[in-house]
Amino acid sequence: MSLLLDHPEALHRLRKEIDNGVGHGRLLNDSDLARLPFLRCVVNETLRLYPPVPLLLPHCSSEDCIVVGYKIPKDTILLVNAWAMHRDPKVWDKPERFKPERFEAIEVEREGFKFVPFGTGRRACPGASMGLRTVSLALGALVQCFEWEKVVESDMNMNYNSKVTMQKATPLEAMCIRRQQAVCPLTTLNYHK
Ligand code: HEM
Repeated sequence: MSLLLDHPEALHRLRKEIDNGVGHGRLLNDSDLARLPFLRCVVNETLRLYPPVPLLLPHCSSEDCIVVGYKIPKDTILLVNAWAMHRDPKVWDKPERFKPERFEAIEVEREGFKFVPFGTGRRACPGASMGLRTVSLALGALVQCFEWEKVVESDMNMNYNSKVTMQKATPLEAMCIRRQQAVCPLTTLNYHK
């Protein structure tokens, strides 16, 4: 949401996609996600720039092996720097920029070593699909039901604290107003004029 507030053109495009694909008669649900490709692009681009587990989980080599020319002895603890991989200018065009549309041209499943917010291979995250769907549904519902505005002129503060997982250093502060057409449960529950 912070990135979308800093990139109103992306927020506008996402809102249009949801309005056309789902409308306002009901809250968007799991079966709508296949019709919302730009929503997936926004979520992927956010996971690229801010992977929630930036060094993945520690791995350990079960036998001697060679990785890109480096000899790795058995029982070596290996940390994978997903953060650095996701911002590598040799791999990504203008890596520091939030450009969800870059994922329109990428088949994520085929480029597993370039985009690894859930790790890759046998020890990759078994909850990847559930995680993606949960985040997409939450973000999609917020965009479907509310107009969003910044409360400051400047760019959003994207500083983060990172230990095993990455967290935003300052919580998002923004103004949300119920959309006139919205009749979804998010806006009728606890809504006071
Ligand atoms: C956006 C949400 C999520 C993100 C970004 C995420 C990310 C990750 C990452 C990076 C790993 C380590 C992979 C590696 O080291 O190669 C991992 C492992 C794991 N994740 Fe997730 N995860 C998410 C959601 C979930 C959910 C919803 C579940 C369960 C319902 C889950 C269960 C697990 C488990 C059990 C492992 C350990 C797998 C193993 O060591 O074999 N994750 N996750």
